[in-house]
Amino acid sequence: MANDVLDFTPSDPLGSDFRGAVQAAITQFLEARNHELTAIGDELALPLELAKTFTGGGKRVRPAFGYWGRIAAGGSPDDGESLVRAAASLDMLHVSALMHDDVMDDSDTRRGVPAAHLQFADLHRSRGGRGSTDAFGRAGAILLGDLLLVWSEQMLSTSGLPAQELDRARPLIEAMRTEVTCGQFLDVIAQSAPATADLEEAIATANRVVEYKTNRYTVQRPLQFGAALGGADEELLEQLALFASPIGRAFQFRDDLLGIFGDEQLTGKPAGDDLREGKRTVLVAHALAAAPKDQAAELDAMLGNPQLDAAAVERGRQIITASGAKESVEQIIDQAYDTAIAALDKASITDEGRTALTALAQACVRRDY
Ligand code: IPE
Ligand code: IPE
Ligand code: MG
Ligand code: MG
Repeated sequence: MANDVLDFTPSDPLGSDFRGAVQAAITQFLEARNHELTAIGDELALPLELAKTFTGGGKRVRPAFGYWGRIAAGGSPDDGESLVRAAASLDMLHVSALMHDDVMDDSDTRRGVPAAHLQFADLHRSRGGRGSTDAFGRAGAILLGDLLLVWSEQMLSTSGLPAQELDRARPLIEAMRTEVTCGQFLDVIAQSAPATADLEEAIATANRVVEYKTNRYTVQRPLQFGAALGGADEELLEQLALFASPIGRAFQFRDDLLGIFGDEQLTGKPAGDDLREGKRTVLVAHALAAAPKDQAAELDAMLGNPQLDAAAVERGRQIITASGAKESVEQIIDQAYDTAIAALDKASITDEGRTALTALAQACVRRDY
């Protein structure tokens, strides 16, 4: 079979050719589930359709770190298609986490369309269902997330990668699943605690949350997984973690900026939702610490109020900007990028891998969606 994968361009690691290959792998996998689900019952039509909808987009950052991690540590593989399938399974896990995250965060929109729990709620409504429409919606989204999680493992184990390679890399995937789940729990705990006025404490908490809920499953473990497939030793895995962690955290800091200041047409998520959800971000921590007392109190009162209207969100933006927090977070992102690139310089990896990982790091921290 021709190995199209070798044609991917390291300087454009999230290019349309790479994203198209990831999409094709996911589509093929889900098409194969059609029969399985319809054999169980026609009721499964909506979960299957939503699995296709929500896995049919996104930046494909996690598959890219997996794919280019393999190239960085071991050069181009003999069987690129299997590698793409294994890398694509990381996005299946990601979308599983997003389905659950939107229930937990009570978010209405994901990737520009109503979140899964709202789409399941619509089904309940249109069938004139008994009981709570919202509870039905949440049940559907939780089960869809579970299905995607199970499928991410199935997609990986049937990717076609040699068993010996997969065995080497599997512990990193296992660590990733535990870490992201625990990170999400750290996030809900942090969100439920009263805001601290101590900036250092708030930043330390936010960094710990973000290390687990974002970096480990977005950058570090996908990259180490790919590198382990390529035969990386412990030393290289550790060196790659020193590159990954600042980038993974800065990825979330960028998400936090976009969550308040972003263009929702591009992000697919309503700007201001982070305030309504009361997310304890590094951005909010800086704003609460640096704003005049009355403004900090005003911002604090906004956090976690689901009723905030557009004018209140705009006021929140003004307070954050005037406090200098936006600039502080931009600086933190810049420093994180520099730290990561300095770590990457010390890693013994292929030229192609270095080019791709540098470009990926850029794409993670400088983006508008
Ligand atoms: C969103 O991830 C969740 C975070 C960890 C911030 P992405 O920004 O990678 O989402 P998609 O896949 O591109 O939609
Ligand atoms: C999502 O975190 C992280 C995971 C799904 C594990 P957030 O809640 O911060 O991300 P968005 O803004 O909803 O995408
Ligand atoms: Mg969320
Ligand atoms: Mg969340």
